[in-house]
Amino acid sequence: MNFPQTRMRRLRRTEAMRSLVRETHLRPEALIYPLFICPGEGVRKPINSMPGVFNLSVDEALKEAEQCAALGIGGLLLFGLPESKDEQGSGAWAEDGIVQKAVRAIKQNRKLDSLVTMVDVCLCEYTSHGHCGIVARDGDHYSIENDSSVTLLAKTAASLAKAGADVIAPSDMMDGRIGAIREALDQVGHQDTPILSYASKFASAFYGPFREAVDSAPQFGDRRSYQMDGANLREAMREIDQDIAEGADMVIMKPAMPYLDVIREARNRYDVPMGAYQVSGEYSMLHAAFERGWLEPERTMMESLLGIRRAGADFIVTYFAQKAARALA
Ligand code: PBG
Repeated sequence: MNFPQTRMRRLRRTEAMRSLVRETHLRPEALIYPLFICPGEGVRKPINSMPGVFNLSVDEALKEAEQCAALGIGGLLLFGLPESKDEQGSGAWAEDGIVQKAVRAIKQNRKLDSLVTMVDVCLCEYTSHGHCGIVARDGDHYSIENDSSVTLLAKTAASLAKAGADVIAPSDMMDGRIGAIREALDQVGHQDTPILSYASKFASAFYGPFREAVDSAPQFGDRRSYQMDGANLREAMREIDQDIAEGADMVIMKPAMPYLDVIREARNRYDVPMGAYQVSGEYSMLHAAFERGWLEPERTMMESLLGIRRAGADFIVTYFAQKAARALA
């Protein structure tokens, strides 16, 4: 008998052979590009900690969206920077709110029909204190009220569905919000609008650059009483379980790279379509290494995305979406 009998390298000899046996693939349709919408016209303001990412006024966002459509990207995820903020975050559900305006403009543009327009539903971009819900103060102490926050989130979701959003993506991590949002959507005749729940969202340091982008860092305290403890895998499964029971059509895991085991476990247990969010800090850290010439940009980017797909994510929200789609073309 020849030694060794099994030679794994036989199937690695040529690119044609490797391509034949490749198990996981990236497709532009399975990438979602986040957009940060701000007031004004002709605004394209760079975000310091996220090279290549901008705050965009609606007109500029439309141009960016057209590029995404031309690249075959699957969808957009919209965030808003309101004109002004208040304690309740009333800009989130305003009829003429910034994301509502952007959604209407996007849905009117036939060149963007191939894009699924998703909206992030949360209050932190709209509250003066930067928390994702209503703050109750008691002397030096404060807490984030669950149920009153859920009422406002449901109102926000209904308002965004009415504006024309294709998918409602709540990212606040309050309890019971999926059920409340489902009910609110049904009540305004949007029983066909799906919910993509950020079901397992961890309290992560990797959101830092995003909070700079939308100016949503909490003014006091942190998000650990609503976002999950990074140590907990089983708890993440319970979150997903509940959101599916309350009517989530799809779920998302976030962040992605430090939580690949969570994505894999969720994929093994549940059959709903599942996304992962490669968050701002994941993008920024890779970019910082690219700028220093320490990592090769394209290969590293593609490997990071492939790892998330291999872990089990059907689609990926990523600030690399356009660059990756170009690399795949
Ligand atoms: C809103 C929200 C956040 C992100 C997505 N939705 C920030 C946060 O929870 O603090 C983070 C996205 C990113 O870092 O790219 N709650």
